[in-house]
Amino acid sequence: MIKVAVLGYGTVGSGVVEVIEQNKEQVNKKAGDCLEVKYILDLRDFPGDPYENKVVHDFNVIVDDPEVQIVCETMGGTGAAYKFTKACLEAGKSVCTSNKALVAEYGPELLKIAEEKNCNYLFEASVGGGIPIIRTLNSCLTAEKIEAIVGILNGTTNYMLSKMEKEGAEYADVLKKAQEKGYAEADPTADVEGQDACRKIAILSSLMTGKNVNYEKIYTQGITRISAMDFEYAKAAGKSIKLLATSKLEDDKLLAMVAPAMIDKENPLSMINGVFNGVLVTGNMLGDSMYYGKGAGKLPTASAVVGDVVECAKHLGKNIKCHWDADEVELVDVKKSRRAFYVRAQASAMNEIKKAIPNGEVVQLADYSDEFAYFTPVMVEEELDRKLEAVHRQVLSVIRLA
Ligand code: HSE
Repeated sequence: MIKVAVLGYGTVGSGVVEVIEQNKEQVNKKAGDCLEVKYILDLRDFPGDPYENKVVHDFNVIVDDPEVQIVCETMGGTGAAYKFTKACLEAGKSVCTSNKALVAEYGPELLKIAEEKNCNYLFEASVGGGIPIIRTLNSCLTAEKIEAIVGILNGTTNYMLSKMEKEGAEYADVLKKAQEKGYAEADPTADVEGQDACRKIAILSSLMTGKNVNYEKIYTQGITRISAMDFEYAKAAGKSIKLLATSKLEDDKLLAMVAPAMIDKENPLSMINGVFNGVLVTGNMLGDSMYYGKGAGKLPTASAVVGDVVECAKHLGKNIKCHWDADEVELVDVKKSRRAFYVRAQASAMNEIKKAIPNGEVVQLADYSDEFAYFTPVMVEEELDRKLEAVHRQVLSVIRLA
């Protein structure tokens, strides 16, 4: 019997208990032993809950109990979650987490402790919810030099953009809808400003390079300035708009960014709609492979945590090496990178923009003669900024092409 503790009995934590119970036959067979939730740590009591007698309020009960070998950290945040995770690993207990903020901030340090103490720190659920992307990078694609990872890693914003595209709706209206449906939080900043996707691509980039990609240095732009009109032009040009989290090797540096991008309808990521996530991985031998599924939600995320618990159960007393060193990867300055752009501007700026940036393509929509879109040729981003300076008051929107 392997005893498990769950830290935090919220959405994911209660899902973890549910998955272990509901799938116990399969889970125990795969783990090679019976898993039993011994403790659930939470500040609250849960009268009437089938597991109410397992709820404890004192973390020391868990860390001091030698019977507990695996701990699921589903609390979130980087305060108590960091302290508790570190203490568990130092006590030789493996920790499985869905906490992307903690993994992005303290990944190398916590992995090092796990290695020293012959236990494991696993975080499959921290990126892409139930999509097995972490284990794919760490175990399945180990023969590859990964050259690029491009993902739709935030379900809330993908739901919003999909709805804007399908219904011609404006940003504020779809945000309201996302909040009503429980996808977006009352304070939606972390999702709509791209911070959630930023931490997730920082984790994937670190696994891709084996070095630390500092999430604070990743260029991050959210979706708050995308309008229904941008989707009109995208449609006319046979494109879609997605919030892409991108990580690409460029010589010995890494281009890592989160930003809305216009993508061709032929791009497989254009088919990821609603709250789903998709990750496109390019390896130098395999070429492209794509991973698709539910990137959030109680049971998909809990399933990934429990998958990690099974992995820990199979490797008790043995560290599974994860290549993520503390040395920082040097990032490419996004402003110095090259790509094409979509520029939407008032019609009065058309001649000036065409003259400053020749060889682009103008798209004008019937009924909107007072404005136009200009698809530029591939150019350095800071050069675009410079060339638009004189007409910046007439520029309505700029979106990168991918
Ligand atoms: N807010 C996140 C999303 C939850 O919408 O994808 C999963 O990390």
